[in-house]
Amino acid sequence: MKVIIILGSRNPDGQTAEAIKSLESGLKERDVNIDKYFLPQNDIKLCQQCYDDGWGLCRKENKCIIDDDFREIVNNLLAADLAVMANPVYFGGLSESMQSFLGRLRRIRHQGGLGEIADLPAIGICVAGGSGRGTTSSIDQLNDILRICGFDVLDMIAARRQNLELKVEILKITGKWMGENLYRFRNFN
Ligand SMILES: Cc1cc2nc3c(=O)[nH]c(=O)nc-3n(C[C@H](O)[C@H](O)[C@H](O)COP(=O)(O)O)c2cc1C
Repeated sequence: MKVIIILGSRNPDGQTAEAIKSLESGLKERDVNIDKYFLPQNDIKLCQQCYDDGWGLCRKENKCIIDDDFREIVNNLLAADLAVMANPVYFGGLSESMQSFLGRLRRIRHQGGLGEIADLPAIGICVAGGSGRGTTSSIDQLNDILRICGFDVLDMIAARRQNLELKVEILKITGKWMGENLYRFRNFN
C-alpha cells in the first residue's frame, strides 16, 4: 500500500509534522510505503491563469503549463492508495503553499484530466498552533477543495495546540485503522 502525505508546513519539527508522525506510526504497523512532502520546501508556483479568459492549457490537455515540482508530486499522488493533506492553520484557513498546490490540482482535475484521482481516498488534517481559532473554518476549506479535486474524503481531523495531545492519539489509531481497512475503500489485488 502506498500513502502520500502532503504538508502545508515547512517545519519538520512543527505541530503539523508532529500530528503526521503520529498518523504514520499507526500506518507503519502495516506494510505501508510512505512518501512525504513539505510543500514550502518544494518549488510550487501559483497558477498563472494562463489564458486571458481565465482558463489555460489544463482545460484541454490535462496538464499544467508550469514546469516545477507540482508535476512530480501529482505523479506520486496518482500512484498512491491514500492521500493525506495536513494543513497548518493560517488566518483560519489554508497555508499559502497548500492553497497553491490544491488550486492547481483543482484545475487539472476539474478539466477531467486526472481521471485517476477520482475517488482516491483522502484524509484532511488541520493543526492550529496559536489561539486555536479558525481550526474548524480551515477544516471546512480543506474539505471543500479536496471534494472539488475529486477525492473520496474519508475523514477530517481538527487539532489545536490545546488538544494536540489527545489528537495525536486519535491520529495514531486512525493510521492503524487505515492501514488495516483501506481495502474496504479501494480494490487491492
Ligand atoms: C501566518 C500565520 C497565521 C496563523 N494563523 C493562525 C490562526 O488563525 N489560528 C491559530 O490557532 N494559529 C494560527 N497560526 C499558528 C499556526 O497554526 C501554528 O504556527 C502552527 O503550529 C504552524 O504549524 P507548524 O508548527 O506545523 O509549522 C498562524 C501562524 C502563522 C505563521
